[in-house]
This record gives sequence, structure tokens and C-alpha cells, in this order.
Amino acid sequence: MSEVYPEPEKFDPERWITQEPTNFEYNPFSAGSRTCIGAAFAMMEIKLVLAILLQRYRLQLIPRLKVDGVGLIVMAPKQGMPVVVYPQDRNFAQGVGGVRGNVREMVELPK
Ligand code: HEM
Repeated sequence: MSEVYPEPEKFDPERWITQEPTNFEYNPFSAGSRTCIGAAFAMMEIKLVLAILLQRYRLQLIPRLKVDGVGLIVMAPKQGMPVVVYPQDRNFAQGVGGVRGNVREMVELPK
């Protein structure tokens, strides 16, 4: 998918600040005649939920957590994604560098 954006395997959430992909380029909701009719609602809902939650709390991955992915069309972490919930103190120093597991074969995370 490097025609759509560079380094597609890389964990780079900031790419979405400037990208405006079509449903065929970014397609959790599928595309074409069977596209999800709830997509606009779901996007609005997740933005509101995240904005409200993340103003109040900081979610920190368990250090050195092993994350194995499962699924082909809809991927998810096999054992969930346990986090520790802190009040939002903006202490983001840990990052995602310590994560282990086959998620590293799916996405290029920092070392
Ligand atoms: C993050 C949330 C959601 C995701 C990732 C998602 C994903 C999808 C996907 C991939 C399809 C296409 C399935 C196919 O190819 O047959 C689909 C279809 C559909 N979705 Fe969603 N969906 C979400 C939320 C919602 C919500 C909130 C609603 C309703 C309020 C909804 C209603 C539907 C309906 C009715 C279809 C069938 C459309 C059709 O076949 O004509 N979805 N969804």
C-alpha cells in the first residue's frame, strides 16, 4: 500500500493528521456497495469516547507485554490488551517500544 502512503508497515498514527484516504485506501468499514452504513456514526462515537476517556485517564500497557494478533480480515489481540489505568498525567514516556509478540511481524514498532 505504499502507493497510498509511505512506510505502510510503520506504526505512525500521526500520518492520519494529513492523510484523507478514501474507503478503498483505509477500509475497516469495507467499501463499495456493501460498505458499513454505521461508519460515520462509529467514527464520531469513537472520537467522542476517546476524547472524553483520554482527558481523564492515561492507559499504560503492562511493561514488556506480549501481544499476539489473531484473525485475518478483522485482526485483534489474542489475549486482549491489558493496561494499567492512571489519572491523566501526560507521562507518555514508556511508549510502545517494549511490546513483544507477533504484533511485531504485523507492524513496525519502535525497538
Ligand atoms: C467500529 C465500528 C464498526 C466497524 C469496524 C464496522 C465494520 C463493518 C464492515 C466491515 C461492514 C461490511 C461487511 C460486509 O462486507 O458485508 C459493515 C457492514 C454494516 N455495518 Fe458496520 N461497522 C461498525 C459499526 C457499525 C454501526 C455503529 C452500525 C449501525 C449503527 C453498523 C451497521 C452496519 C450495517 C447495517 C452493515 C451492512 C451494510 C450492507 O451490507 O448493506 N456498523 N460494518
